[in-house]
Amino acid sequence: MMKMPKFIPISEPSITDKEADYVLQAVKSGWVSSLGEFITKFEEKFAEYIGVKYALTTCNGTTALHLALVSLGIKEGDEVIVPDLTFVATANAVTYTGAKPVFADVDPETWCIDPDDIKKKITPRTKAIIPVHLYGHPANMDEINKIAKEHNLYVIEDSAEALGAEYKGKKVGSLSDCGVFSFYGNKIITTGEGGMITTNDENLYEKAKYLRDHAMSKEKRYWHTQIGFNYRITNIQAALGLAQLERINELIEKRRQIFSWYKEFLQGIDGIKLNPEKPWAKNVYWMVCLVLEKDFRIDRDELMSKLRERGIDTRPFFYPISDMPMYHKSNTPVAHRISQRGLNLPTFFNITKDDVKFICDTLKEVLAL
Ligand SMILES: Cc1ncc(COP(=O)(O)O)c(C=O)c1O
Repeated sequence: MMKMPKFIPISEPSITDKEADYVLQAVKSGWVSSLGEFITKFEEKFAEYIGVKYALTTCNGTTALHLALVSLGIKEGDEVIVPDLTFVATANAVTYTGAKPVFADVDPETWCIDPDDIKKKITPRTKAIIPVHLYGHPANMDEINKIAKEHNLYVIEDSAEALGAEYKGKKVGSLSDCGVFSFYGNKIITTGEGGMITTNDENLYEKAKYLRDHAMSKEKRYWHTQIGFNYRITNIQAALGLAQLERINELIEKRRQIFSWYKEFLQGIDGIKLNPEKPWAKNVYWMVCLVLEKDFRIDRDELMSKLRERGIDTRPFFYPISDMPMYHKSNTPVAHRISQRGLNLPTFFNITKDDVKFICDTLKEVLAL
């Protein structure tokens, strides 16, 4: 029989018997929709892990962002500052509220929103800032919170890619008005699709919970006082999430180990930058990143296609959102440069050290190093 060439995906979830067992329990219990004990357990354990009072599940990270914004009162006519280098959901959620996303540049060292550029983008209409903890590294929260305080702005941490990451010893999602997480299949933990809002603010939590369920009156069932949403998660998804959360330390440690392998095999190559980790940060390395800081024989896109020909899946860094047709151009040179030169390398629980060595050897070969 012919041996199939190996294909290494960029990402895959780690699902064990524990996840299968919890999901089966949820299905067999009959509580298959958005009531059931796995939802409560998942929310309670999540809040405890992040170090906040409240955690509220949603059906994905985008709806968590939208719900957080609406619950904070963001509306048409407002402006919300977001980094230009992030997944499009960060900006789209702002647009759904009728507000305008305003794009700030990123810091060349952390690739997260640049506090100095936030200052330049503030107008009398600005109501909130959404820092994104990009690719698993926290944004510079002290600086951001300071600016927010001076200008009376809300801060929502988009922590979709950074569950478990720490800023000065505190978990992201606990450092501002609220945090938002995603549990899409490629995230640190998955529920298939799913999201979470974390906060210490009881009013915000109650408001978001109410709007999540079509703003149904607590006193009078099926009486609605406002236009709300159905942004609920299912008990089946929460069962998967709880099992994953019970494995969180192992899942994060593995990502850190995978990064250390890449670092070992790629060390000393001039012109290549891997994920940063500031002294004040714990990076969870959601995706191993590589930025071509100088010009090599081939560019980023050619590198990606050559790796693909050899069975290695990669993805490009996010494109600056301000360049996309539905948004407006913004002066964000750092985001533009990094975006063009960055790619993500395979990062998932079951990847082996041999796989990483193969990827790094292939990379060196195609870059002719
Ligand atoms: C930074 C960021 N924000 C928001 C989201 C949206 O999450 P979801 O895909 O669960 O809607 C994602 C992920 O996909 C993300 O990477």
